[in-house]
Amino acid sequence: MIDLFDSFFMGGTVPLKNRIAMAPMTRTRTSDGDIPNALMATYYAQRASAGLIVTEATDVAPSSKGYAMTPGIHTDAQRDGWREVTRQVHRHGGTIFLQLWHVGRMAHSSLMPDNEAPWGVTAERADAAVFAHRPDGTLGHMAASAPRRLSTGEVAALTDTFASACADARQAGFDGVELHAANGYLFDQFVNSVLNTRTDRYGGSRVEDRTRFLLDVAAAAVRELGPGRVGVRLSPFGRFNAMPADPLAEQTLLYLARELGRHGVAYLHLVYELMPTENMEVAEFTARHLDHALLAKVRDAFPWTIIWCGGFTDRAGAQNALDTGLVDVIAFGRPYIANPDLAERLRNGWPLAAAARSAYYTRRDAAGYTDFAPYANDGTTTREDLQ
Ligand SMILES: Cc1cc2nc3c(=O)[nH]c(=O)nc-3n(C[C@H](O)[C@H](O)[C@H](O)COP(=O)(O)O)c2cc1C
Repeated sequence: MIDLFDSFFMGGTVPLKNRIAMAPMTRTRTSDGDIPNALMATYYAQRASAGLIVTEATDVAPSSKGYAMTPGIHTDAQRDGWREVTRQVHRHGGTIFLQLWHVGRMAHSSLMPDNEAPWGVTAERADAAVFAHRPDGTLGHMAASAPRRLSTGEVAALTDTFASACADARQAGFDGVELHAANGYLFDQFVNSVLNTRTDRYGGSRVEDRTRFLLDVAAAAVRELGPGRVGVRLSPFGRFNAMPADPLAEQTLLYLARELGRHGVAYLHLVYELMPTENMEVAEFTARHLDHALLAKVRDAFPWTIIWCGGFTDRAGAQNALDTGLVDVIAFGRPYIANPDLAERLRNGWPLAAAARSAYYTRRDAAGYTDFAPYANDGTTTREDLQ
């Protein structure tokens, strides 16, 4: 039986010290120019006892941006910022993958170069909000803008954009990358059989066409970084960001699992349950849960590591999931916000701290970000200086 604290080689290649992953979380703390800063390096280093850290979603190009104050990897300054993050995480014994995204239609034109329209699989607008600049210059939630449908050539060119981002990630010291193909962003928009009504080689009713963009990028990423260094995040039944329910979701998931495995992708990161917003229940985001019967089929189709994320809050729940034999790593998102030492707390049975929702995004300073202390067994809290 696998224990949550057993080490292993993810995708047969990258050594992890335990089966705990820190899930990717956008925290909107970058410096001007979408540059990762010293505070972010401290934040990630504080969490280095996770077997794997997956960073917040990171822009591969200026056009991929959907939220203010999220980081990029496409300028020298951004790469320098990330290099300090990876240096600090490695100094503390951690392993860190960079999550790469293109938000596609989930953007506002105020975030786009020259205020152009966001890039879409089609011209259909997402009935959803993004965090952007209001007309008065302040930041807040704004309705996503109507996108422009990408031409066939532009989709093909994006493969090179992602391949460059992979090279940049390696140069910045990352152990690998995760392609963000979940939660209603560009890859997910292509894969969805209802949303993707294109009639070119990247769309339509055939699964081979709808998944071509993601599979081409995955293949390019593996070519760039080598097998074992590329993961893919999927949320097959997710409704977040106005994604339509997809009657072909299971078929697509199993096809992707087989093909991504064949391409040498190290892990599938499956989002089981999405974060509900203030006024919505989880059920409104997920048409169906990733139940065990389906996971067993994914397991058969994909030969490497499977990470499961969503709603895990304690050691017993995580261990039960591992005991099914269907997954290899458990990812924790929200619990990592207030518990930098989550792995130690789970191992020792120490209580978990809770973060207020107001701490999730939008502040520039340490408050609600790096000021959550590791657990002190004497009942007090201490502040760890990681600089
Ligand atoms: C503040 C916050 C930011 C998030 N940002 C991202 C992100 O950048 N990329 C991503 O794939 N998921 C993101 N998520 C989703 C989480 O990775 C995770 O799937 C979700 O929180 C459910 O896991 P949990 O129940 O352990 O929190 C975010 C979640 C939160 C709470």
